[in-house]
Amino acid sequence: MSTYEIYKGLYAAVLKAVAASGDPDIARFGSGFAGGEQGWLDPGVNLLPAADFLDSMDARDDSVYKPVLDAFTACRYVLFWEQTYKKQDGVVNDEMLAGYGFAEIIGINGPLVSDTIRCGIGVWGPNIEYPVHSHDAEEIYVILAGSATFTLGDNLPKFHTGDDVVFVSSGLRHSFTTASAALAVLYFWQGGDLRQISSFS
Ligand SMILES: [Fe+2]
Repeated sequence: MSTYEIYKGLYAAVLKAVAASGDPDIARFGSGFAGGEQGWLDPGVNLLPAADFLDSMDARDDSVYKPVLDAFTACRYVLFWEQTYKKQDGVVNDEMLAGYGFAEIIGINGPLVSDTIRCGIGVWGPNIEYPVHSHDAEEIYVILAGSATFTLGDNLPKFHTGDDVVFVSSGLRHSFTTASAALAVLYFWQGGDLRQISSFS
C-alpha cells in the first residue's frame, strides 16, 4: 500500500467516526472534515518513541473510534511523527519531550493538505504533564485510549477517558496530565494559524 493510500485510509476512518459520533462540537467542525483535502505532500517517515505506546492500547470494542485507533496502530511505524516543542524552548519538561508525539493526517503542511482543518493522532506516555497553554485555533481532543485530567480555563480539573470529547475554544488556556496509562487522542484544530506555536504565558 502506498503512503498516500495509507493516509487516505486513515482519513476515511476518521470521517466515518466523525459521522457516527453525534457529538455537537465535532459537528461544528464538519465543513473541514468532508472533502477538505486539497492536495497531497508525502511526509516520509519519522519515528519517535511515543509511537511504541500504541502497541498496548485498546479502545472499547463498542467505540465508534475503535477503527480509528486500530488504523493508526496498524501503520504507526510508517507515519511522520513529530513534536511541536524543543528542549531549548523551555516550555515543556523532559518527561513530556521523551514521551509524546503526534502524527498529522491532514493540515496546512499535509500530508493531505487543508488550509481549514488540522487533524491527527497524539500520544502521551503515562504521568505526563502538558502545561497550561493557549492558541487561536479552537481544538477538539477525542480520547481514543487511556485517560487524562484536563483543566480548561478557570474550570476545576476534570477526568476524561475513552470516547470523551474535550472541546477547547479559541484562546482558552488549557492543560492536562495523563493517568498511569498512556493516552491517545484524535485531535482537530480549526481557525487561526493552523501551525501556530502555543503560548505558555
Ligand atoms: Fe491545545
